This record gives sequence, C-alpha cells and structure tokens, in this order.
Amino acid sequence: MSLRVGVLTGGGDAPGLNAAICGLGRRLVAAGAELIGFEDGWRGLMQDRTRSLQHENFQHLLVYGGTLIGSSGDNPYRHPATDVPKVLATVRRHRLDALVAIGGEGTLGAADRLFRDHALPIVGVPKTIDNDLEATDFTFGFFSAVEVATRAMDDLRSTAESHARVMVVECMGRHAGWITAYAGVAAGAEGILVPERPAHLEELCGRLEHLRQSGAKSAIVAVAEGARVWEDGVCLSSSERDEFGEYRTGGMAELVARRIRERIQWDARHLVLGHLQRAGRPTAFDRIFALRLGARAARLVLEGRFGYMAAMRAGEIVEVPLQTAVAARKLISDKFLDRYESFFLPIGGP
Ligand code: F6P
Repeated sequence: MSLRVGVLTGGGDAPGLNAAICGLGRRLVAAGAELIGFEDGWRGLMQDRTRSLQHENFQHLLVYGGTLIGSSGDNPYRHPATDVPKVLATVRRHRLDALVAIGGEGTLGAADRLFRDHALPIVGVPKTIDNDLEATDFTFGFFSAVEVATRAMDDLRSTAESHARVMVVECMGRHAGWITAYAGVAAGAEGILVPERPAHLEELCGRLEHLRQSGAKSAIVAVAEGARVWEDGVCLSSSERDEFGEYRTGGMAELVARRIRERIQWDARHLVLGHLQRAGRPTAFDRIFALRLGARAARLVLEGRFGYMAAMRAGEIVEVPLQTAVAARKLISDKFLDRYESFFLPIGGP
C-alpha cells in the first residue's frame, strides 16, 4: 500500500511556500506516495479540510508566492484539551503515515509537541520572512522580503532628494530586525533601528543633523516594526501586549518621522512596507532553497525518520531535531551589528 502523507503550511505566508510544497511533492509522488494538503495550517487538521495534491503541476507551482493550500496562525495547543484530539482524529481518519509541517516558530512548536507527546510521525520545514529561527542559517522568504524592502528604499531616494526629506521606512520584524538590517545596509540607509539594539532618538537626530550640515539633502532611515526607541530616558515603543503576550508593534516609522520633524525641523515622511514584504514571487534563490528543503523533508518521510526538520547550515541542507528548531529565537548577533557598525546607532536604551 502506498504511503499517505499530509502537508500543511502555517503562520504568516512567505514567498517560497509553494516551492517547498513542490520539492516535497515531486519526490513523494515520484516514490508512489499519496500527498494530501491540509488547508489553512493546523486549522485544516482541526476541521478536517483537505485538498488532494496528487495531480498538481508541481513544476508550475514553484514560481508563485503565497501558498496553494492556505495558511493560518491557528495552533492546536491554544486549546489543547479540545483541539489536539481533533488533530489526532484527523490523522487517524486519513490513515496518514506522515505529516509535514511547513512553518515558523508557532507551527513547528506545535509539530514538536505533537511528535513528543503523541508520537505523531512529523517532519518540519522552516519558513518565516523574519529569519529568526535559530536552527537554520536562513529561512526561505527572507531574501525575497529583503529584496522588496531594499528596492523600496532605493526607489525612495529620488523623491527624498527632490523634496529634501528624510524617508523613514518601516520593515516587518517584531523581535528580530533581520529584514531591516539587511535591506538597510544594502540600501545604504543613514540610520537603522532594530529591536536588538535599542536606540536613542537624540542620537538619531544628532546624526541626521550632522549629515545635513555636511551637505546631505535627504536621508533614509530603516526602522523595524519592533524597534526599541528611547527619547529622554523613556521608551517610546509600545509596552502593550497582545493576547499571546507579544508586544504590540507597528507605528514606529510614523513616530520616528514625527520626532525628526519636531526635533530638527527636517521634513520627514514615513512608509510602512507591511505585507508587501510577504507578497509577490519568491526570488530565484528562495525558490531553489525552498525546493531543496521540501525535497529533504520528503527524504526524511521516505526513510521513516520523524521529529526532524530540514535546515540550512553553512550552505548545506541538513537535518536537525524539531526540538532544537524551536528552542531559541535567532536575533541579530553582535558580530553582525559590529561589522556594519556605522549603519546602526550606538548602543542606547535605559
Ligand atoms: O512573522 C511574520 C510576520 O510577517 C511578522 O514580521 C509580522 O509582524 C507579522 O507576520 C504580521 O502578521 P499578520 O499577517 O498577522 O499581520
């Protein structure tokens, strides 16, 4: 009897999800396995909603952004008493031999717990545009997002210059400022504010003023949505938490632009790149990277090795235990911040 394999994509979408499904599906279907997509992440397993991927044109699929099978942030461990049994029942009903979970911290965290608590035969594939999973050097979707943000900053230069303005650009990243850092450095931003290195507005404005005095007509400031920004000893970033205990983020670029106008009377505008960073087609790198991860997940399934996640280490695709994949969040290292020291503000904070 052929293997029956389920796949889900959970959390915020990331360019390359379809390529990962493609890498997985091509190898599994070629090996005679049956591939079943569960719609909208873990919700599809809780509600038993499926879509057959058996006859999908995988080759064609890989160029598109988004995810063919939908995604959601639902997680059976939010209400484990009712939702975990639903997931287990769906797995039994479909007589699944394996389940492949493609997602970030939340999705893979649930996968890890289902593997350890219920011996569910699970394999993980990491994804997040935020690039903040410790067990892998990079996640697919990240470089696509960086490309969008870099281009936006590049393009804003001309209008900033025409109007002698500062453009403050907000990138995604609640805890980790990877997109802001990479795009900011690539675009030669005059200031980069990330959660990992709290910054003082006085410092930022001082730097901008110095640039203006030196003849600069315009400037670009890259701000992560979760940047920790201080002014006169007070943290201006939100201390409010949402229902999951996470800081409420967003609005940083608007606030920073307003303060620049007020403090140094340099005209400033803000732009929130938002979901554009997750939109559109993946870069060629992300397509191939995601294909490779998907193919490795298929290999793990075919070899009957569960509780692992495919990951990238030093350019190679490797396997790591799911548990290590969700153990820690990967923040921008001091090494990176020091290497590009001149882009970031000196260490500030309280
Ligand atoms: O985790 C990925 C991410 O893109 C974050 O950078 C961002 O804060 C969040 O998702 C936005 O999520 P939503 O799609 O729920 O608005």
